[in-house]
Amino acid sequence: MSAPNTPLSPEHILQTGFAFWPAKTLLTAVELGLFTELAKHPLGLLELRNRLGLHPRSAQDFFDALVALGFLERSAEGIYSNTPATDLFLDQRKPSYVGGILEMANQRLYHYWGHLTEAIRTGRPQNETRDGSMPTFEALYADPARLRAFLAAMSGISRTSNQLIARKFPWANYKTYADIGTAQGDLAVQIAAANPHLQGLGFDLPEVAPIFEEYVEAHNLSARLKFQPGDFFKHLLPKTEVITMGHILHDWGLPAKQMLIRKAYDSLPKDGALIVYESIIDDDRRHNAFGLMMSLNMLIETIDGFDYTAADCQKWMHEAGFRRTEVHHLIGPDSMVVAYK
Ligand SMILES: C[S@@+](CC[C@H](N)C(=O)[O-])C[C@H]1O[C@@H](n2cnc3c(N)ncnc32)[C@H](O)[C@@H]1O
Repeated sequence: MSAPNTPLSPEHILQTGFAFWPAKTLLTAVELGLFTELAKHPLGLLELRNRLGLHPRSAQDFFDALVALGFLERSAEGIYSNTPATDLFLDQRKPSYVGGILEMANQRLYHYWGHLTEAIRTGRPQNETRDGSMPTFEALYADPARLRAFLAAMSGISRTSNQLIARKFPWANYKTYADIGTAQGDLAVQIAAANPHLQGLGFDLPEVAPIFEEYVEAHNLSARLKFQPGDFFKHLLPKTEVITMGHILHDWGLPAKQMLIRKAYDSLPKDGALIVYESIIDDDRRHNAFGLMMSLNMLIETIDGFDYTAADCQKWMHEAGFRRTEVHHLIGPDSMVVAYK
């Protein structure tokens, strides 16, 4: 709260109104492979500009804007280099790369969010499904390159939380788990890597299989982590002691959310656990701005999806029959809601 005599400032309003400037500056840097280039070798202005094939007019402004934004460093001699964070997370050649989600934001979401006003007015998605001819995932997966990019992007947004789930949940009490809507399989991989006693399954649509298997193989986990093709609207969920669902429930309307929780309940043994995680909105719906805007993103991306509070999720879990639920904050906007049968 500001002191009583402090004049009101429009700064927060203006900064937010122009927040697309830093966003697009960073997204363009990722698109150009700037951080990957600098991870190979720090470079001066001319060489960096030439490597990326940029016009002389604004290259220096572009690089220095990234310095000012805290994504690049520049030495007294004018040599540009990555910061420790951009080196670790935005160098495409490192397994810690999270830029897939930013590539998707740049290629798809940045443009589709230009139609937010229309989405808010009409309640209709504004992405590839805008003409209403195809369901969300069918449209997204119609192009194999887009399928691969989307699945890798999900690993980028999920990995830090995945690593926390792999450590925070009492996995020692269980032997088997299935990750539903596993995409590339990063959550399943992190759980298996941190818990060598576990056997896991990644459950997703059949076209996801080769991308999952390649990722699991790259982590040397193929012996303990298998793919199970399936459609959670048509098939039962795998019978394992733990079921995880990351960024699944928010893709769908209330009846499908409740159906998925009920299917998890039906598949689990007594004392089995369901872990639901995403950017769960705070119960008071006034703090987790990312979670609330993720829900707007579901408006843009899906027919009837929406994000929800932990209290909402716990209510649906109890309605499905779960005896006990817990909420654990993971990192940033992400939390997990755990239900025990
Ligand atoms: C938003 S992604 C979440 C990926 C991953 N769990 C994460 O948190 O990063 C949703 C996933 O659900 C999968 N999916 C969508 N419809 C499905 C269906 N009917 N049956 C099984 N999986 C489905 C998609 O293929 C995709 O991998």
